[in-house]
Amino acid sequence: MSTIFVPREVAPDETRVAATPETVKRLVKLGYAVTVEAGAGARSAIPDAEFAQAGATLAADGAEAWAKADVVLKVQPPTDDEVDRLREGAMLMSFVWSVQTPALARRLAARKASVVAMEAIPRISRAQKLDALSSQANLAGYKAVLLGANALKRIMPMLVTAAGTIKPARVVIMGAGVAGLQAIATAKRLGAIVEATDVRPAVKEQVESLGAKFIEPPQDAKSEGSGGYAKELTPEQLARQQQVVREHLVAADLVVTTALVPGRKAPLLVPADVVEAMKPGSVIVDLAASQGGNCALTEPGKTVEKHGVTILGELNAPALVPTDASAVYARNLLALLQDMTKKDAPGQVTVDLKDEVVDGALIIHQGEVRHAPTREAIEKLAAPVAG
Ligand code: NAI
Repeated sequence: MSTIFVPREVAPDETRVAATPETVKRLVKLGYAVTVEAGAGARSAIPDAEFAQAGATLAADGAEAWAKADVVLKVQPPTDDEVDRLREGAMLMSFVWSVQTPALARRLAARKASVVAMEAIPRISRAQKLDALSSQANLAGYKAVLLGANALKRIMPMLVTAAGTIKPARVVIMGAGVAGLQAIATAKRLGAIVEATDVRPAVKEQVESLGAKFIEPPQDAKSEGSGGYAKELTPEQLARQQQVVREHLVAADLVVTTALVPGRKAPLLVPADVVEAMKPGSVIVDLAASQGGNCALTEPGKTVEKHGVTILGELNAPALVPTDASAVYARNLLALLQDMTKKDAPGQVTVDLKDEVVDGALIIHQGEVRHAPTREAIEKLAAPVAG
């Protein structure tokens, strides 16, 4: 019987946890022994006692539990210290962001670890229940609108009162992927007039079905790359896209930006002069802040006021709704473990490299880096500096 360990997240702004009492119960049913570090659920409002009731052993001493674990479930990429605590040959399932952090991937490989990176789960229909990028982006999109509504100096819906009519707020959502679509739905529910833009033409119908107006990108800036993601625009295409959205941004009360291109810096959609032209009191919530931001004046991790516009550079929006974010993330991990636990080998992770999902997400297997982009990033790290 393998032991699954769920440590307390150590990053200061991380409130989520990689298991819940619900998933612990199911993991125990699958034949695993589950250990949860004391206090792991506290910031998601899950008391230790609920984990214990669900069948987990509580570990007061994290170090010992790390050393004994066969499988470790985490939210944030492990710190160097956590990698050193991981037992040689153990398996880690977590967000890793290995292409962006090749030194961490190299350290995990040196530890002879097997690593399932949640950001590398292929985005195919069959794997939707394992898709942690989506489960978290969905909540981030919702919360971004609430953060924005709260920072506004006005209300969102139209209100007809004895003292006259209050006009509804105008909201522009930039990037209508998972987070953007949820942001549209949330802003609509709050009664705002909502417009949205994206460079992928397929999005138009989805935006309109949520009752928002689609701001068409310029004909030549429409782009769709592999796997349903956007491609990076050329500087000329980007300039034309900025031009098209400019008048909508200037008229907006709230702008929520979610535009990302995998493996690239976030596209710059709101240049400084547009912020300057926006209405005083308007608000930008930049969900792309961790990738450099969609707005030129975003300061990642901070709320700033520029030209009378409040700009929120939120780095970890799902962590602001940790109870639900943990619940869905934990279910993503559970679904993965259900797929990797064979009926004839309960309580044991079986690695089937013929499974497309495992093949894509198992970025390191027993110390061997299998994920080509991660390997390339590690090689660049090791390459001698030219000249
Ligand atoms: P993402 O987080 O990489 O990007 C967010 C949005 O920004 C995307 O819609 C993208 O097209 C848009 N964007 C990029 N550059 C832009 C620009 N210059 N101007 C305006 N918008 C720009 O994307 P996300 O949310 O992860 O979803 C991407 C796609 O993956 C979607 O088509 C979604 O339907 C698909 N998907 C498929 C899943 C599955 O089949 N299991 C699960 C989740 C998503």
